Amino acid sequence: MQKITIAIDGFSSTGKSTIAKRLASALGYIYVDTGAMYRAVTLFAINEDFIGENEDIPGLLRCLNQIQLKFVPNKELDRSEMYLNGENVEAEIRTMKVSEQVSKIATIAEVRELLVDMQQKMGKEKGLVMDGRDIGTVVFPDAELKIFMTASPDARATRRYKELLERGEEVTYEEVLKNVQERDRIDSTREVSPLKKAEDAIEFDNSDMGLEEQFERIHNLAQRVI
Ligand code: C5P
Repeated sequence: MQKITIAIDGFSSTGKSTIAKRLASALGYIYVDTGAMYRAVTLFAINEDFIGENEDIPGLLRCLNQIQLKFVPNKELDRSEMYLNGENVEAEIRTMKVSEQVSKIATIAEVRELLVDMQQKMGKEKGLVMDGRDIGTVVFPDAELKIFMTASPDARATRRYKELLERGEEVTYEEVLKNVQERDRIDSTREVSPLKKAEDAIEFDNSDMGLEEQFERIHNLAQRVI
């Protein structure tokens, strides 16, 4: 059976990663969460004081070659976790502190170049499902299957709010809604690789669609291509 590349793009908190992970596991493919990579670079920038109160983007650019990212499988939890310079940062990259800065870091052309290069190397052999914002447009414009996920801002903020509460973060629904909308605004309007639907992507509005139905539909689409 031939292996293909599946690109899943879309707005923040549309459930891309849940579907992408499940699809990858059903097909025996690798799953890559590119948002985790932008989040890890952002955490590095926060820790080194390159962003926040004393912004120093040129300083960050000088240190980009010191950033080592690795996805390490966690068999117990049946997922891969992001390691930044040898340290497991999976929980920390999902906090609001990182969410508030990540879209700004993702506008930087040099950061995108670095991460897109890593992503293309990971997908060289095909057989992968990658989710993000520019996978179908920039990283793998020739992907055999492209999905573009959307959902109403309320549906997305509600999902994200629940996730953060489950992780024990103290946050209000309004803060989460504002963050989701602000990230979408920055991601869609940035100069380099803005978030947009690839012409040949299939659009999925999952505001009123359960996980099972989404998975069934996307899995069927993939099987038709494979
Ligand atoms: O997917 P997630 O919400 O974790 O992504 C966090 C942020 O990383 C996005 O809001 C966006 O700014 C950036 N991102 C990106 N391109 C990607 C993946 C994520 O710009 N391919």
